[in-house]
Amino acid sequence: MEKQGRVFFSSVTLTILIISLLSSTSNAHNITRILASHPSLSTFNHYLTLTHLAAEINRRQTITVLALDNSAMSSLLDKHLSTGTLKNVLSLHVLVDYFGSKKLHQITNGTTLVSSMFQATGTAAGTAGYVNITNLKGGKVGFAAEDNDGLHSFYVKSVQEIPYNISILEISSPLSSADAEAPTAAPSQINLINIMSKQGCKSFADLLRSSKALPTFQDSVDGGLTVFCPTDSAVSGFMPKYKNLTDAEKVSVLLYHGVPVYQSLQMLKSNNGVMNTLATEGANKFDFTVQNDGEDVKLETKVDTASIVGTLIDQDPFVAYKISKFLMPRELFKVSEEESDAPAEAPKASKKGKKKKASPAADAPADGPASDSEDQKAADENAAHSNNAVTFTGVVFFSLFIANLVL
Ligand SMILES: *[C@@H]1O[C@H](CO)[C@@H](O)[C@H](O)[C@H]1NC(C)=O
Ligand SMILES: *[C@@H]1O[C@H](CO)[C@@H](O)[C@H](O)[C@H]1NC(C)=O
Ligand SMILES: *[C@@H]1O[C@H](CO)[C@@H](O)[C@H](O)[C@H]1NC(C)=O
Ligand SMILES: *[C@@H]1O[C@H](CO)[C@@H](O)[C@H](O)[C@H]1NC(C)=O
Ligand SMILES: *[C@@H]1O[C@H](CO)[C@@H](O)[C@H](O)[C@H]1NC(C)=O
Repeated sequence: MEKQGRVFFSSVTLTILIISLLSSTSNAHNITRILASHPSLSTFNHYLTLTHLAAEINRRQTITVLALDNSAMSSLLDKHLSTGTLKNVLSLHVLVDYFGSKKLHQITNGTTLVSSMFQATGTAAGTAGYVNITNLKGGKVGFAAEDNDGLHSFYVKSVQEIPYNISILEISSPLSSADAEAPTAAPSQINLINIMSKQGCKSFADLLRSSKALPTFQDSVDGGLTVFCPTDSAVSGFMPKYKNLTDAEKVSVLLYHGVPVYQSLQMLKSNNGVMNTLATEGANKFDFTVQNDGEDVKLETKVDTASIVGTLIDQDPFVAYKISKFLMPRELFKVSEEESDAPAEAPKASKKGKKKKASPAADAPADGPASDSEDQKAADENAAHSNNAVTFTGVVFFSLFIANLVL
């Protein structure tokens, strides 16, 4: 009796411990929750959620948010920007570095340019997307977009600082930038081929350009479209197989790389499961499975596995990612074919626990453009973090097991 009681007690205690540890490590911060206790920032908070920026902020490990109070937000909203443009403007207010109020007042040489999340959208040209922070007379700190006509926004107060994860600083007025405020293309006017060609998916864009699959992609943009674009080297490795397909099969395999809904990276990371594609038609499933391993997102067909290695463009409702491999649907390829595929790619011994012979990230980093580096860095950091959490959980479960044996 007594022994059973103690075992029960210790199990409950440890389970609670596990749950609380897991919940405190899995999400470093939640900007929506932090801002919720500041009514004067409620409009800003609302628009971070509406533009999906909140999820992007939560995903980052080291970040500074320049918050606007409700009256500053209403002056921004008076411009009647589209949601896409507003997202660009607000993403200029999210710095991908940590600035507490102390560091803010002690900038080396009194002025600096800091990279913002607007840079990561792929929309910012040149140095647009940088924020100028300058220490001014009398302890004031001025802020402006890099292409500024003077520093018109000033530090007001520190809202919350969690060194060195997230700092929220209130500034007096919105940062304005011609580049961020440029009207974003209405979805259906987005030139898929141009964007993909420019952002490092030229080979795939070339296949699409001359294909009957293109109109299907183009028609899907308005309602939401996610494109998975294989890297140039992945396309060239796949060409011998592609040339072997009939015309109709070529169209199918290209359509297989599009999904008729908008899926942000955050959504992909939090959703495992089967996903239909533009090629799906009745019994011809043409689906694949989204599988995430920490911050790593993998797409598994029955034939091969690709990893997402970067974001080309993210303009809700259209998003395009770069992937490490050409996706091969089981409807067109033999399941065993992968083994004889691309002999140059040695399987990575270190990749753990995957049932297939695929070597997901083997050719991934080779030709990723520089613009991916921020996302990659954050992803790497997050991956390292979640690995720790997994290891730690393992240790706790093991302790639980031992505790039950002993008691
Ligand atoms: C900062 O983030 C890291 C990683 O998510 C976490 O381990 C740490 O506890 C956080 N620090 C604070 C003060 O919340
Ligand atoms: C963040 O907090 C808000 C408000 O408390 C909540 O609705 C939301 O689900 C939280 N997000 C995450 C990722 O935990
Ligand atoms: C500060 O200014 C000095 C002299 O102009 C320059 O050499 C140095 O690189 C600057 N430091 C930073 C962090 O910009
Ligand atoms: C920031 O802007 C101010 C005012 O336009 C300018 O004098 C300063 O040189 C800029 N700082 C940097 C690092 O570009
Ligand atoms: C092309 O098809 C032929 C006939 O089905 C087959 O023997 C050959 O291996 C295929 N080539 C490639 C690269 O898949």
